[in-house]
Amino acid sequence: MTADLSFPPGFRWGVSTSAYQIEGAVAEGGRGPSTWDTFCAEPGKVLNGETGAVACDHYHRYAEDVALMRELGIDTYRFSFSWPRIQPDGTGPGNAAGLDFYDRLIDTLLGAGISPAPTLYHWDTPQPLEDAGGWLSRDITERFADYASVLAARFADRVPMWITINEPMVLTLMGYSLGAHAPGKELMFDALPVAHHQLLAHGRAVQALRAGGGVNIGIASNHAPTWAASDSAEDVEAAGLYDNLINWLFADPVLLGKYPAGYEAAMPGPVEDDLKVISTPLDWFGINHYSPVSVGAATGQADTAATDGIPLPPGLPFEPRALEGYERTDFGWPIVPAAFGEILRTFKDRYGDRLPPIYITENGCAINDVPVDGVVDDQRRIAYLDGYLRSLRSAIDDGVDVRGYFQWSLMDNFEWAAGYSQRFGLVHVDFETLERTPKASYHWLHDVIAKNRE
Ligand code: FCB
Repeated sequence: MTADLSFPPGFRWGVSTSAYQIEGAVAEGGRGPSTWDTFCAEPGKVLNGETGAVACDHYHRYAEDVALMRELGIDTYRFSFSWPRIQPDGTGPGNAAGLDFYDRLIDTLLGAGISPAPTLYHWDTPQPLEDAGGWLSRDITERFADYASVLAARFADRVPMWITINEPMVLTLMGYSLGAHAPGKELMFDALPVAHHQLLAHGRAVQALRAGGGVNIGIASNHAPTWAASDSAEDVEAAGLYDNLINWLFADPVLLGKYPAGYEAAMPGPVEDDLKVISTPLDWFGINHYSPVSVGAATGQADTAATDGIPLPPGLPFEPRALEGYERTDFGWPIVPAAFGEILRTFKDRYGDRLPPIYITENGCAINDVPVDGVVDDQRRIAYLDGYLRSLRSAIDDGVDVRGYFQWSLMDNFEWAAGYSQRFGLVHVDFETLERTPKASYHWLHDVIAKNRE
């Protein structure tokens, strides 16, 4: 990797978080129950029975967290609105205390010179909506458009960048297909309507936000190169099928207004009309990226790391394989910087003129170092970020129009089914005392950003 760490003028630097993973205060301010509260309460679903009930207590400590962001030197903060804080029942004009919390957060950010970049939905569905069918029901797209209107009416005057939905692929696969995330449904391929309804909700939210004065709107979609396990025709074909399912099923409708071959018939509703809404032009497209996947033809020896240890059902024409020969994060995710540049170049080649500017809405790693004499010397996170940023820079050199990089995550937080076991933060959080300690990687990224501003 030859590219350096200097980025084009105006390149945006940020960090990302999400509501359920950091806020805590789940029973305060009129917040209603979410699917993640319910899922966490079910024995055996989350490691050690942990929950987001307290998390980082960001709901009360947001001012301290914004001060950490300002010291880091970022210009953009990607967070998510908690839908059950705004609309406890999933409908209605908006809960005053919930809206007030985000007012305080947004005003504090603006006062610190940081642009808020909120995500409308990062997986925490109001439980009453889930009880009414959740993302399997078309009605949720209507609810989501209303919710977007409530947010635009309140915040469009101060929010310069909006993100609709986080990783629709993961909610579909982990939440409704395999049951490893809330709402814990194991529907396998019957979960496909969840993909369609999220995409439609995304398109409807873009329109509702714009109607309410919102500008600069994108999505945060996760993407990764799918590498065939070998050159054999069977493995290459299997990898192509898997690639469609995890990448293009979610990006093609948004960017091209069509599903990969064979999927349209599996989707509910007036799909042709819906695709027009889904492909409402975006101001930018957000990519979350972590690791590539290796896939081969089914042999019965699937590696389940790609699906959080959950086996895929028998009878599928492909299987994820272990990706050998790379170092791994403490979560077991392969560290492959070159794959980052590769997926960005693939987007440029696949979508050409249809591709708006890209933002990296998430990238980072679980490195579980803890303080030793008050210092968290997370050199492996520094090495990871250095490699991934150079790979990103090389893609920009190759003509991919990437406008910003939002690292995951500001601070250690609730990592879904893994509870508090995986530390993705630039800032260490002691989950007993809630004390924050910036790690070596925080200081390193501070210097990278500062040099880019010289
Ligand atoms: C992404 C999620 C984010 C976080 C990171 C590690 O899939 O969007 O909430 O869990 O992974």
